[in-house]
Amino acid sequence: MCGIVGYIGTEDAKEILLRGLEKLEYRGYDSAGIAVVNDQGVHVFKEKGRIAELRKVVDIEVEGTVGIGHTRWATHGAPSRINAHPHQSESARFTLVHNGVIENYEQLKREYLSQVDLVSDTDTEVVVQLMQRFVDDGKRVEEAFRYTLSLLKGSYAIALVDKEDVDTIYVGKNKSPLLIGVKDGVNVVASDAMAMLQITNQFLEIMDEEIVIVTRDSVTIKTLDGTIVTRNPYTAELDASDIEKGTYPHFMLKEIDEQPFVIRNIIQKYQNEDGTVRLDDNIRQAMKESDRIYVIAAGTSYHAGLVGKQLIEKLAQKPVEVHIASEFLYNMPLLSENPLFIFISQSGETADLRGVLVEVKKLGYRALTITNVPGSTLSREADFTLHTYAGPEIAVASTKAYTAQMAVFTLLAVDTAKARGIELDFDPIQELGIVAAAMETLCDQKDALEKIAREYLAVTRNCFFIGRAVDYYVVLEGALKLKEISYIQAEGFAGGELKHGTIALIEEGTPVIALATQEHVNLSIRGNVKEVAARGAYPCIISMEGHHGEDDTFVIPAVHEHLTPLVAVIPMQLIAYYAALHRGCDVDKPRNLAKSVTVE
Ligand code: G6P
Repeated sequence: MCGIVGYIGTEDAKEILLRGLEKLEYRGYDSAGIAVVNDQGVHVFKEKGRIAELRKVVDIEVEGTVGIGHTRWATHGAPSRINAHPHQSESARFTLVHNGVIENYEQLKREYLSQVDLVSDTDTEVVVQLMQRFVDDGKRVEEAFRYTLSLLKGSYAIALVDKEDVDTIYVGKNKSPLLIGVKDGVNVVASDAMAMLQITNQFLEIMDEEIVIVTRDSVTIKTLDGTIVTRNPYTAELDASDIEKGTYPHFMLKEIDEQPFVIRNIIQKYQNEDGTVRLDDNIRQAMKESDRIYVIAAGTSYHAGLVGKQLIEKLAQKPVEVHIASEFLYNMPLLSENPLFIFISQSGETADLRGVLVEVKKLGYRALTITNVPGSTLSREADFTLHTYAGPEIAVASTKAYTAQMAVFTLLAVDTAKARGIELDFDPIQELGIVAAAMETLCDQKDALEKIAREYLAVTRNCFFIGRAVDYYVVLEGALKLKEISYIQAEGFAGGELKHGTIALIEEGTPVIALATQEHVNLSIRGNVKEVAARGAYPCIISMEGHHGEDDTFVIPAVHEHLTPLVAVIPMQLIAYYAALHRGCDVDKPRNLAKSVTVE
């Protein structure tokens, strides 16, 4: 969480930093700040709330060609102006921004800073005060920086400026993402290439426990013991228009509409000329050899993993377990003899998953990451990567990344089936093509879905979603979408389970959204709808063409029964979107959330 930017060049840094931070707001948006450096010193502006609030307090008169900035998702210390970054050392010589969590900050404070009055409640401030302490003790700045970082336990991406040397930015990284963007006479720092695409598309990766000394004309990478590292930049394959809303009012709506294109893009990327699926031989081999697959994920990606399990078990006939990453580490199941781990993550940065990956690698097991960001930490550290090709997803509520993950799981399942000699009566390329067309039809039915959102969700306090078999997994995602952006308390239940307790919450008019895409459970889910309706619920039935009823609220075009989640989720995404809109919520940036959760 949290986003970092830095600029050292020839133009005034303020606007570049602010624009960069706007692109990183998805990483946290409870407070923000920038430090602008010029010959008169370091000028810090920070404010609680969004970048828009920060803009109001930035003094436009202050100009400088060097600066650092930060957008925060609070972990240590409430979201407030005082706790916002940048933080400064006692003498204000050093100014620093940080993303991550310093686990041993209390101990460092006790050991080295007993004489210092810390002004914030953050773990970060300790780092900048340590810098001051070690420089006061006689260390040179770079040496003090390397020494300070070597004392830190936990995760950090750091950018630091020194009032006494206004032509350098010191950068360090461990476990939190950070990149250096390079160009003639200008260098930049960013948590995500997106933030600095307007300056350059050439970026240098920084590895864990490396520091970088950035000036206008040089970028020097060193390990914490001072050894110089050489590394070439790579070209960020990002199109600036991918990260703009265009004519859409919200990124979420744009990203929902992009789903047919994303599915077609995946088909194209993973298709051989003869129309068969093309996957890395090593992945095929690893899938084939393993006796059990363990899918590890969080949030929406976990829901995609549940559908992935169905696909792999049904098509490739291989047992799969799906685990919530944050639980797996502390409650590991008995593993099979030859497991393969699949990490599924839109961002590729989720700390809970990384914790598991590190453990899995220690145990000597192989890991595949399915991600939307191929250069991400989880991608780099796993043995194999499958790219979901969804393009940048900016809205905090995940939509197109979820359907992309399921599409990639489909191809993986079919490829594994083939490798195992299983004959399938299922052409994934053709069926995904049908899915893309059905998605288009659904995206054209926004008026009907907006009407449903208004009718069912405009005033309600809560809402239940029910489904059976694979529909159960989809309603979990439907409920998550609704609650995260509209703040309506929404829960997804297996159709048969609601009556074992939760039905007590059904009152006159409580909306219950039932999903019915699966023929073999069609009658039973409709039976569950009757149970809640008899107790006063207001049911909304979303069914699939072919086995729909006359009075169903909304009917989805038919697709292959294995792929219904990819289309069934679209009405749920749009209903959630319109419900949030009607309730006046900030659709793209819901309260308390962040898109990329890089702390445990
Ligand atoms: C956060 C986001 C969710 C996302 C989850 C997992 O909680 O708000 O939308 O599903 O992290 O993220 P990942 O990038 O690992 O898929």
